[in-house]
Amino acid sequence: MKQFKINGGNKLSGTIKVSGAKNSAVALIPASLLSDEVVAIDNIPNISDVDVLSDTIKYLGGDVKRNKELIQLSLSNLKNKPISEEFSSKLRASYYFMGALLGKYKKVDIYFPGGCSIGARPINLHLKGFEALGAKITNDGNRYLLEADELIGTHIYLDVASVGATINIMLAATRAKGETIIENAAKEPEIVNVATFLNNMGANITGAGTSEIRIKGVDYLGSCFSEVIPDRIEAGTYVISGALVGDNLKIENVIPEHIESLLFKLKEMDCDLKVYDDYIVISKTDNMKPADIKTLVFPGFPTDLQQPLTTLLTYCNGESTVEETIYENRFMNIEYLNSMGANIEKVDDKHITIKGPTKLVGCKVKATDLRAGACLVLAGLAAEGETIITDIEHVLRGYENITQKLSDVGAKIELEEI
Ligand code: EPU
Repeated sequence: MKQFKINGGNKLSGTIKVSGAKNSAVALIPASLLSDEVVAIDNIPNISDVDVLSDTIKYLGGDVKRNKELIQLSLSNLKNKPISEEFSSKLRASYYFMGALLGKYKKVDIYFPGGCSIGARPINLHLKGFEALGAKITNDGNRYLLEADELIGTHIYLDVASVGATINIMLAATRAKGETIIENAAKEPEIVNVATFLNNMGANITGAGTSEIRIKGVDYLGSCFSEVIPDRIEAGTYVISGALVGDNLKIENVIPEHIESLLFKLKEMDCDLKVYDDYIVISKTDNMKPADIKTLVFPGFPTDLQQPLTTLLTYCNGESTVEETIYENRFMNIEYLNSMGANIEKVDDKHITIKGPTKLVGCKVKATDLRAGACLVLAGLAAEGETIITDIEHVLRGYENITQKLSDVGAKIELEEI
């Protein structure tokens, strides 16, 4: 078990470099197995989810070499094998082996994915897409067997613009016969990253980043070199840390367009921030205005930054509101923020109101999920005294070298083994 010990109140100054995006990297690694050659991906974050996925590629017969941020995957000796529940349940992104293995081998034996417990998180749209492409699905408890004689391109409408379903259908359709059109596709930057990667390997995908994606199936995918985009959620988290305790804190390797919804909110709140081409400089601001947040699919305000931003809202002058529209269970951080001195009321499963400003004081809290953990790290940095955050394995799944990155800019944060 690991925990963070944070002594709050220190000003953060200097530079934090944002790593490659977790939610891109965890799709690109399974996607690579559609190739029969060697693929290299740069800017891979050093997080535990990447380790788990790399081990699965090895289990399937691939050769994986990592050198700092570069990963090289040799995929010529792959074999299709069942993927155990022990692996599938370790992370959400294990579901990308469904689309990739179905596309390549027309057969997958796998279990329901894991990931943070932030809602029911069904995979019905993924399965609906695979069925529309011609797969027969047998389901026994958590186990899924997907089989097809062949996959045939088709027209699919997603009831919800799901990130995972869009990518998964794209993976399978890349090796289908003919053209697949995904309507109401998710538009997140990670989708564009995956489509670019597949195209670099020889796929024929257009429209990624819009709500209509067209995939013309191809027979063979070869080698390529690609790069993971900067992590917009990690960037946003550190930008918020700057608004809380920054002193000209510079966040670099950022694509500001990817976090525009956050930057506009921070400006609305009167935060002291300057936005440049690929970096942002931000300082603590007194007398911030409150804000109303509603989480939406991209380019709306991301659900993954809702919990981190709530910490900042506790310091604003007046009443803020948050409406969570993506997940049913993403307010588990509230109990802990309140125990640190916040005044947050959970109106119902989708709404909270935050009355500020309140002063946070360190105590022992628990990271119930990845972004709840990020919210509490931010709270610990701003709070008076010592904050202990338990269950931080969740946080380490998504934030590369978080202790080092924060310590380097002046935070007092330690990772303790207990
Ligand atoms: N949904 C369905 N049916 C489906 C798929 C999704 O009803 O078949 C619903 C979900 O229950 C949810 C909504 O659609 O209410 C959106 O889910 P989506 O499929 O877009 O999310 P995801 O693919 O499971 C990814 C990220 C999440 C991020 C969301 C939204 C990965 C591995 N995970 O999840 O990241 O919150 O997109 O942007 O890419 C995180 O990083 O902390 C995280 C949870």
